[in-house]
Amino acid sequence: MMKWIAPSILSADFAKLGDEVRAVENAGADWIHADVMDGHFVPNITMGPVIIEAVKRNSSLPVDVHLMIENPERYIPDFANAGADFISIQVEACTHLNRTVHLIRESGARAGVVLNPATPITAVEWVLEDVDFVLIMSVNPGFGGQTFIPNSLNRIRELRRLILGKGLSTRIEVDGGIKESNIGAVSEAGADIFVAGSAIFGARDYAATIRRLKEKANTP
Ligand code: DX5
Ligand code: ZN
Repeated sequence: MMKWIAPSILSADFAKLGDEVRAVENAGADWIHADVMDGHFVPNITMGPVIIEAVKRNSSLPVDVHLMIENPERYIPDFANAGADFISIQVEACTHLNRTVHLIRESGARAGVVLNPATPITAVEWVLEDVDFVLIMSVNPGFGGQTFIPNSLNRIRELRRLILGKGLSTRIEVDGGIKESNIGAVSEAGADIFVAGSAIFGARDYAATIRRLKEKANTP
């Protein structure tokens, strides 16, 4: 399966966001990852739909909106209307996960579900058929630049087994602490899509960094 890189704009320079998204697009990024935080589900506040609109005006890449918010059903249509191609929701924030996944699809976006580092993988077992991808958090969500939690590798393997056991081809995305030194192992464990914030936007040469990340993801 093709391995994709999704730079997280959380680590971009917000004062020149248009330049930043154009730069990572030219540097070979596959998706743009946008981290939406509400100050309730996570201890940080970031961006709303207007930022997604601004990103869409400056890039033709698919935009992957990661909602780290309570009551996501309240805002899903707004993010879809702003141009989100993919919308993912934290299972811990959803009492009616199946309903909320379907709301994403009815709003016109593709749907993903996200698991925090201590949430059992089986929490997504009965929505696997209804989603395009599952996102495994490999740090506790809230901030960029944190360290990858090693047992995330076992969690990715367990999720890959669950997906294969059901005969599905659901993609696995991983988010948090991904860098050149661990992307090979994360890829080998079964991940397909790699979010990277500080590893890309903290580098001087975006193109060289994305090229090396892709090489390492493809040849673990
Ligand atoms: C964490 C966010 C991540 C974060 C990744 O709450 O969901 O997308 O920005 O940043 P790095 O790659 O720096 O860990
Ligand atoms: Zn994220």
